[in-house]
Amino acid sequence: MSSAVRVRASPSLALIKYWGKRDERRNLPATPSLGLTLAGVYTETRVEPAEEDRVILDGREQDRERFAGFFDAVRRRLRTRMRFQAESRNSFPTAAGLASSSSGFAALAVGCARAAGCALDARELSVLARIGSASAARAVYGGFTLLAAGARAARQLHSEDYWPKLRVLAAVVSTEAKLLASREAMRTTRSASPFYRAWLADSRHLLARALQALERRDIEELGHAVRLSYSRMHAALLASEPPALYWLAATVSVIRECASLRARGIGAWETIDAGPQVKILCLQEDAPAVRRSLMEMMPDLSMIECRPGPGPQLIEGGKG
Ligand code: PMV
Repeated sequence: MSSAVRVRASPSLALIKYWGKRDERRNLPATPSLGLTLAGVYTETRVEPAEEDRVILDGREQDRERFAGFFDAVRRRLRTRMRFQAESRNSFPTAAGLASSSSGFAALAVGCARAAGCALDARELSVLARIGSASAARAVYGGFTLLAAGARAARQLHSEDYWPKLRVLAAVVSTEAKLLASREAMRTTRSASPFYRAWLADSRHLLARALQALERRDIEELGHAVRLSYSRMHAALLASEPPALYWLAATVSVIRECASLRARGIGAWETIDAGPQVKILCLQEDAPAVRRSLMEMMPDLSMIECRPGPGPQLIEGGKG
């Protein structure tokens, strides 16, 4: 039984970063990552059987090469010859640094399985999503997730109800498309950064710290590990030859403002992915003060506030 389906998936923000591939062909991560699926922002994807594989994102057809390996893997796992047309849109600006590839491939994996009438379990969906984008392996679950180094699938640590007061404020400092794809930047870090090995070794320790903090719902200790993870990832990247820097002047201003907030006793811990945007971890009661102080500094700044969110949801079709 096959039919058109519509799926919504939210992005997975990495609190502890995946950066670097252990196996590029199989898309296996070299570092463990701790993800938080965000509510209120999502990718919505409609998938239906078609003559040939096509992906249209926000009205624009995507490069077929980028998706060829993913669709082939989907067919092998689903034991089907079906080809898929997927039309996708993000509820947030694609350039917002909100890990749209994680929500995009999570929605696509769930959508293809459902369109082909296959009821895969979450682990199998995570394996499929990872083939498209390793961070997407985490986005097939809600709440807090773990993708271990070298793992084929992520797993859920806690549901979205585990820490209801936690908030993430995404500060969109630029809407320009990123210049360097994460895949390429990871390759550069691995092959041309003298800090890469140290980054790999260190990421295990940072994960252990973050997991302990998460068990205690200790935002200060978690925030501390979160800051070290992005700083060290970007330090390794910056030390590569040629150096790669995703940050803009406004990125640095937001980092400094978070430091000044913390010095004033307001908990705000920032993290940065492969782009200039800054995502700030805080508690619900501190979110208004964090938002206010950033808006005072940069009146044009657009901010998106998210709480821990659910995994992908089927919103139309998919009887199989
Ligand atoms: O999954 P990719 O290839 O889009 O890479 C994601 C890399 C980071 O967002 C920087 C970190 C992460 O774990 O999501």
